[in-house]
Amino acid sequence: MKHQIKKRNDPNQADHKMRRHLKRHNITKHFKMMKFIFPILMMLIMTAVTIGVLNTVLYGADVETLEVIGRNIFVGLFLLLLFVYMYIFKPHILFDKKHMLMLTIIYLIVIIPSQFLANTSFIWLLPYTLLGMIIALLIDEGLGVLANLVVTIIIVITGNLDISFMLFFIISGSISPVLTSMAKERQKMFYVALYMMAINGALLVFKSILGSSNGFEILTENMIYVLLNPALAVIVTYGSLPLFETIFNLLTPFKLLELTNTNHKLLQRLLLEAPGTYHHSQMVANLAEKAAMDIGANPLLARSGALFHDIGKMKHPFNFTENQNANNPNDQLAPDTSAEIIINHVSDGVKLAKDHKLPKEIIDIIREHQGDAIVYYFYHKAKEHSDGFVIDPGKFKYNGPKPQSNEAAIVMIADCVEAAIKAQSPSDRTMEKITEVIREIIKIKILDYQLVESKLMLKELVIIEKAFIKVYNGMYHERIKYPEVIV
Ligand SMILES: [Fe+2]
Repeated sequence: MKHQIKKRNDPNQADHKMRRHLKRHNITKHFKMMKFIFPILMMLIMTAVTIGVLNTVLYGADVETLEVIGRNIFVGLFLLLLFVYMYIFKPHILFDKKHMLMLTIIYLIVIIPSQFLANTSFIWLLPYTLLGMIIALLIDEGLGVLANLVVTIIIVITGNLDISFMLFFIISGSISPVLTSMAKERQKMFYVALYMMAINGALLVFKSILGSSNGFEILTENMIYVLLNPALAVIVTYGSLPLFETIFNLLTPFKLLELTNTNHKLLQRLLLEAPGTYHHSQMVANLAEKAAMDIGANPLLARSGALFHDIGKMKHPFNFTENQNANNPNDQLAPDTSAEIIINHVSDGVKLAKDHKLPKEIIDIIREHQGDAIVYYFYHKAKEHSDGFVIDPGKFKYNGPKPQSNEAAIVMIADCVEAAIKAQSPSDRTMEKITEVIREIIKIKILDYQLVESKLMLKELVIIEKAFIKVYNGMYHERIKYPEVIV
């Protein structure tokens, strides 16, 4: 005891501990600082190009040097505002290299022609609608609104434009990302173009009424351009989206919807090679979509993740209950070999998904849908046949990680619920029994700590439970018995 106390108070050891702590602290600090390098570099590129183009436009124009410097500082300050906004409200975008690179590319595509067109008769063709649309679809709707605000102010102030242009571009450009984010299918972008044309037309009428005495002239000369602007924006967005989706392997709402189409090559293969798994996945998708919708998660991501979650079972389809008839290959195998095949369906699925270039978010759901749970059936079977030997539960565990997103956690629960309810005999599938099974599965997942790394809250688990019950209610509700008709 004395020795222990002495050891604890040893100044050399305390010093060593302190140094170790400081070293770790410095390394952490160093890594924290490192993550700023890429976003700062991107912001510097945006600022440098904007100032470079601005000075080219101003070159030869009758502008005093001091004013040029003032306009350059103004550009820097407004882009700093965009940086600060992202740091406070959207750090996941700021520190994501893919998103920052995309933002820089989109910004440059918009700002360069805008600065050249600002003081010409093509001013109404400035691609501000395009900016909001593409950012809303590829990155974030809120960022689309703010980026439009920053770009508009930079163009109007540095180009010395009339303040009414600023109001026009801010109103129209703020509506465009909001409307775009509501369009869940590619075809609906056509309606976004129509709405934007109507809004732009109305704004131009207001501007000409409230503006100068030559209002009618402004209206007739510019109407065609303000209507053409959103139409061109939709065409360019429509055309460039597949390019961005492919280069950056992005998951846009459009791409998600395409993935939920059962004509996908992998899903068609699943139907032929593992039909039981295919039908199981369809049901898991129905459950997951409804639950995700009810808790405010991404229902399309949950649905498509559920459709693909078990594609790895195609490697050994008959080792999985849902594809078996009379023969069960596991009867001829040692329990740990069966468990290995079962466990490997996750890594096999991830590999297959990568080979078919499925988006990262779907691959994550495949990888996480079993967490690090134990394959209990084969673990118990191994224990029963152990002849007194100790069985290592680690051999029967999935490799994880646990679900990191709400969608992955929902797929995990829906997967177990569907399998458990299907295992019941059809006569037992009453709503009381189904409710009991759903509650039990959720309880098991909580107690097994499988949901701790997702962001699911307890109240959301209650909503998920109710959503599942609603789906099963729709399937198994008692049919109304009509009185027999006596002829
Ligand atoms: Fe499954």
